[in-house]
Amino acid sequence: MKIILLGASGTIGKRIYDKLSKKHDVIRASRSGDVKVDMTSTGSIEKMYKSVASADAVVCAAGEAKFAPLSDMTEDDVYVGIRGKMMGQVNLVLIGQKYLNDGGSFTLTTGILADDPIAGSAAVALVNGGVNSFVTAAAQELQRGMRINAVCPTVVEDSAQAYGDWFAGFDPASMDRVANGYVRSVEGLITGRVIKIY
Ligand SMILES: NC(=O)c1ccc[n+]([C@@H]2O[C@H](COP(=O)([O-])OP(=O)(O)OC[C@H]3O[C@@H](n4cnc5c(N)ncnc54)[C@H](OP(=O)(O)O)[C@@H]3O)[C@@H](O)[C@H]2O)c1
Repeated sequence: MKIILLGASGTIGKRIYDKLSKKHDVIRASRSGDVKVDMTSTGSIEKMYKSVASADAVVCAAGEAKFAPLSDMTEDDVYVGIRGKMMGQVNLVLIGQKYLNDGGSFTLTTGILADDPIAGSAAVALVNGGVNSFVTAAAQELQRGMRINAVCPTVVEDSAQAYGDWFAGFDPASMDRVANGYVRSVEGLITGRVIKIY
């Protein structure tokens, strides 16, 4: 398969790359990747799809959202996630459905905060929940046999230390389990699923 991987240089993305690139032609896309794309710009997404012709799958392990205590949270704080992690991923699908091969798949990334919030996570939770619901609904309408799923990990092992006490009491997921969630979505037949790696 020819797979576009957004965020291939990231903590999660590089593990997805290691796994998928053993079997597939994986194109690394990000602001500084082999294919340059800024997912916050629809023009940039369209350009990416035009430059990588005939892809079979898009995997997104990128998308910014902002943590902030509710008492200090501003509209702009919320819009960071809406523009980045939410509309960035939604636009990858809205635009990509015109470009992907028949039977192609989209795999997006959300996260445990949709279900189990921590302090300061309201804006991130909103975006994760929104993308999960988008995936469930969009799967019903995608044409030409295309599929869509979200991988929804808990805090991952390689990030646990950086987050300090934020995720106290959460069991970090191994990088292998997380990467396997993406493999299930790309290589399997499932669609409309939120693949929880908790
Ligand atoms: N880490 C965790 O424990 C965890 C748990 C659950 C969910 N998640 C979610 O998983 C996703 C990836 O997390 P991560 O920790 O792996 O992130 P990360 O290490 O910060 O990596 C982010 C990746 O996304 C790319 N990127 C960032 N902004 C972009 C943009 N505007 N357009 C295109 N590419 C962009 C970066 O490359 P460039 O700088 O080259 O653009 C990089 O490859 C995030 O949405 C995060 O919320 C993470």
